[in-house]
Amino acid sequence: MLYRLFISWSLVFGLSAAQDPCAAIAGKKWVSPQEARACMFSFPVDQDRKSSVNSRVSTRTEYINTILAPPPFEKYVHEDIHADLARIRATSYHSDFDLHLDLYNSFRRLNDGHCVLLNLCYDCNYLPTPLALLTAEDGTQQVHIAPEAFSIASAEFPDQIEFWQASLDGNLKGQLASVPFRRQSPSNKWHNPFVAVNQNAEITGGYQAFSTRQNSFFSSYSRGAKGWSYVMGNFAQLVHPLTDSVQMTIQRPNSSTVEQVTLPYRARIGSTVRNFTDSESYRTNMCRNVTATNGFNFYDLLTQQETASLPSAAYFEQQPMLDHEDRKHPMNVMLDALPLTDVELPEELLPLPIALNQSYSVAQFYMLSDNITGVLALGSFSAANFTAFMGSLLDGLQELKSQGASRLIVDVTNNGGGYICIAHTIVEKINKGGDPEEVLSYNPSQWRNSSNLPFSVQSHWLRPTVNLTINGHEDAFSPRLGAECQPFEMTPPEEGLFEPENIVIISNGRCASSCSLFSITMAKHEGVKTVVIGGQQNAMQQYCGIVGGQSTHFTEIDTEIKSTHLKNHTHAPPDFVLGITWRLAFGIHNPAEPEEWQDHPADFNLPLTLKTVNKPSAIWEYTKSIFPRVSAEVATDSIDDQFRLARADDN
Ligand SMILES: *[C@@H]1O[C@H](CO)[C@@H](O)[C@H](O)[C@H]1NC(C)=O
Ligand SMILES: *[C@@H]1O[C@H](CO)[C@@H](O)[C@H](O)[C@H]1NC(C)=O
Ligand SMILES: *[C@@H]1O[C@H](CO)[C@@H](O)[C@H](O)[C@H]1NC(C)=O
Ligand SMILES: *[C@@H]1O[C@H](CO)[C@@H](O)[C@H](O)[C@H]1NC(C)=O
Ligand SMILES: *[C@@H]1O[C@H](CO)[C@@H](O)[C@H](O)[C@H]1NC(C)=O
Ligand SMILES: *[C@@H]1O[C@H](CO)[C@@H](O)[C@H](O)[C@H]1NC(C)=O
Ligand SMILES: *[C@@H]1O[C@H](CO)[C@@H](O)[C@H](O)[C@H]1NC(C)=O
Ligand SMILES: *[C@@H]1O[C@H](CO)[C@@H](O)[C@H](O)[C@H]1NC(C)=O
Ligand SMILES: *[C@@H]1O[C@H](CO)[C@@H](O)[C@H](O)[C@H]1NC(C)=O
Repeated sequence: MLYRLFISWSLVFGLSAAQDPCAAIAGKKWVSPQEARACMFSFPVDQDRKSSVNSRVSTRTEYINTILAPPPFEKYVHEDIHADLARIRATSYHSDFDLHLDLYNSFRRLNDGHCVLLNLCYDCNYLPTPLALLTAEDGTQQVHIAPEAFSIASAEFPDQIEFWQASLDGNLKGQLASVPFRRQSPSNKWHNPFVAVNQNAEITGGYQAFSTRQNSFFSSYSRGAKGWSYVMGNFAQLVHPLTDSVQMTIQRPNSSTVEQVTLPYRARIGSTVRNFTDSESYRTNMCRNVTATNGFNFYDLLTQQETASLPSAAYFEQQPMLDHEDRKHPMNVMLDALPLTDVELPEELLPLPIALNQSYSVAQFYMLSDNITGVLALGSFSAANFTAFMGSLLDGLQELKSQGASRLIVDVTNNGGGYICIAHTIVEKINKGGDPEEVLSYNPSQWRNSSNLPFSVQSHWLRPTVNLTINGHEDAFSPRLGAECQPFEMTPPEEGLFEPENIVIISNGRCASSCSLFSITMAKHEGVKTVVIGGQQNAMQQYCGIVGGQSTHFTEIDTEIKSTHLKNHTHAPPDFVLGITWRLAFGIHNPAEPEEWQDHPADFNLPLTLKTVNKPSAIWEYTKSIFPRVSAEVATDSIDDQFRLARADDN
C-alpha cells in the first residue's frame, strides 16, 4: 500500500473567535483537530514560563554528547539544546502552545527517551488505520494497512467508525472493513511511503538509531500488567492535533486499480483529562502545576495522600503505574509523549499457548509446541509488588526448565525499562545530616563507591568533580559510583538456567533503559544473540537504545531541592515536567565511555509477514527456527535470505 502524507499545517486562528474556543469543545469526547487547535492556540505566552527558559533551563541541561554523538550515531544525534534554548529565548510566540511546541520538538530532537519535556495540556489524535511493514514471500517489502485495523478501530472508537466510514469517498464509502491487506501498486507513481516513515523518524525522538525510530511508525504489541496491548504506532496516533487528514493511495488485494482515500484525523480528549468547561478552567485544571507536577519538602507536614501522590511524569513512563512504595526502588525507564495505550490486542492476535502458572503481570511464560523452547514475554522491568515480581521471574524460568525447556526466547518488544535491580537479577541468572531519615536521592547513604562499598553520610560523594570537555563544552560528573543491587533481595540459583547459546532476545528494537541494561549485559557479557523483528530491509537494526543508567524526573529532583531548602538557589531548575538521566552506565566493551553511545547491532533481523505481524506466538514459533543457526555460529555469508543479517548498509 502506498500513501501520501498530506500534512496541513494551516493553523486555525480566530475560529469562532467571538466565542470561547475551549467552551466549544468542553464535555466532548471527539472533536476535529481544527477545534482542538482553536482552543490550544488561544492562550497567550505564559511569561513566567518563558522567563524560566530565559534564566534557568539553560544553566545546565544535558550531557553535551548530543551536540555530536560518537559513531555510529553521529549522523542521527546532533542537537545543540543550548543553542535551541538561546533561539527560543530570542523568539516571540503567538501563543503558549507555539512556545511549548518549539520546546517540545527541540527536546525530542535529542533522540533521548530519558530527556523529554512534556506538558500535560495536550491530547492525542487518532486515525483508524495502524500500518505494518510486511515482507512478501518473494522478499519484497511493502507498507500495509495492518490486517487488524478494522477490529482495532471498531473496539476502540465505536462512536467514530460511522464518521470515518462517511469520510470515505465514492465506491469506498462505508467500506472500511475491506480496506486491510492493501498492496503497493507496481507502477510506482506515487510517493514512496518511506518518505512519510522517514519524516516521522526525524521528529518522533526517543531512540538514537534511525531504524528504531522508523519502527515507531508502525503498529506493534506490548505485554502490560493486565494483559496484551496494541501499540498503534506514530502513523495512527499523533501527540498533537496538528494534522487534519491523510491521503493514502491504496490497492486492494486481487485488484489492479489504484485508489485514493482521504481519512481525517479526529482528536480524542483523553479519559484521563481533567474536566473543563471553558478556557479558564482548561488552563486551571489541565495546565497548571499541582503537587504531583512539582516536588515538595519531604519534611513538611504533608497529608499521607500528598506524600503518596504520584508524579505527573508517571503517566508518561513506559511501565505500569507503580505505587509510592514500589517507586522507591532504583529505576531506569523511558518517557514517551504518548503514554502506554490501553488499546487491547485483538483476540485473534493473542498468544495461543496458555501462560504458565508462575506468570505475573508484565512477565508471562509460555512453552512452544516443540516442548523444548520456552518464552519469557517481558513487557517491562517494573510491576506492582517488587518482591512478588522478582520471585515470579525466577520461579517462571524454573517452571519452564522443569517442563523440559532447554531453549529460551526473551521477548522485550516495546519494553521501556523499569527497576534496575530486576534487570540485574535476571542477568545474574539468567554529608551533613540534612536528611536524617536517609530518604533523599542525594543522600550518600543511598549509593556505593566504585569498590561497591556504601558511602558514609559524611562523605561528599560528588567530589572530586570529574571535569570533562565534550564536543568543546565543559561538563561535570561525580566520581564513578558502584552497584547497589547486590546482595539481591533473593538468592539466584548457583547455576545459570539456560546456556547463552540457547537464549535469544527478540524485540522491535524498542527496548530502552533497564531493558537496555539487561540486553546489553546478556549480549556483550554473556554472548546471547539478539534479533530484531521487522523494520526496513538492510537498515542497521539496533537491539536496544537509550541505555541511561538510572533515570529520574523533575518532580523527584524538585523534592530533593525543596527538602534541602535550595529552591531559591540560582541553579535550581524551573518548574517543568522533564525527564532526567541521573547517572550513566559505563560500557562493557569500552568501560571508559558510557554505554549510551556504543553500538548495539542486532545479530539477526527477521522479516514480518502477513502471517506473523502483531501475533506474538506466530513470531515466537518463527523465531524458534533460528536456534540451530545461533548455536552453529554461522558465518555471515552462509545465512540464507530469510535470515538476513542486520549489518548491511545503514541508510
Ligand atoms: C485473492 O485471490 C486469492 C487467489 O485467487 C484468494 O485466495 C483470496 O481469497 C483473494 N483475496 C480476497 C481478499 O479476495
Ligand atoms: C468530569 O465530568 C463528568 C461528567 O460531568 C463526571 O462524571 C466526572 O466525574 C468528572 N471528572 C472529574 C475528574 O471531575
Ligand atoms: C505552582 O506554581 C506556583 C508558581 O510557581 C507556586 O506559587 C505554587 O506553589 C505551585 N503549586 C504547587 C502545588 O506546587
Ligand atoms: C496451574 O494452575 C492450574 C489452575 O490453578 C492448576 O490446575 C494446575 O495444576 C497448575 N499447574 C501446575 C503445573 O502447577
Ligand atoms: C508436547 O507436549 C504435549 C503435551 O504433553 C504433547 O501433546 C505434544 O505431542 C508434545 N509435542 C511434541 C512436538 O513433542
Ligand atoms: C508482595 O508479594 C509478596 C511475595 O509474594 C507478599 O508476601 C506481599 O504480601 C506482597 N505485598 C503486597 C503489598 O501485596
Ligand atoms: C570505598 O569505600 C571504602 C570504605 O569507606 C574505602 O575503604 C574504599 O577505599 C573506597 N573505595 C574507593 C575506590 O573510593
Ligand atoms: C572541576 O571544576 C570545578 C569548577 O570549576 C572546580 O571547582 C574543581 O576543582 C574541578 N575539579 C578538578 C578535579 O579539577
Ligand atoms: C527563599 O528565600 C526567602 C528569603 O531568603 C525565604 O524567606 C524563603 O523561605 C526561601 N524559600 C525557600 C523555598 O527556601
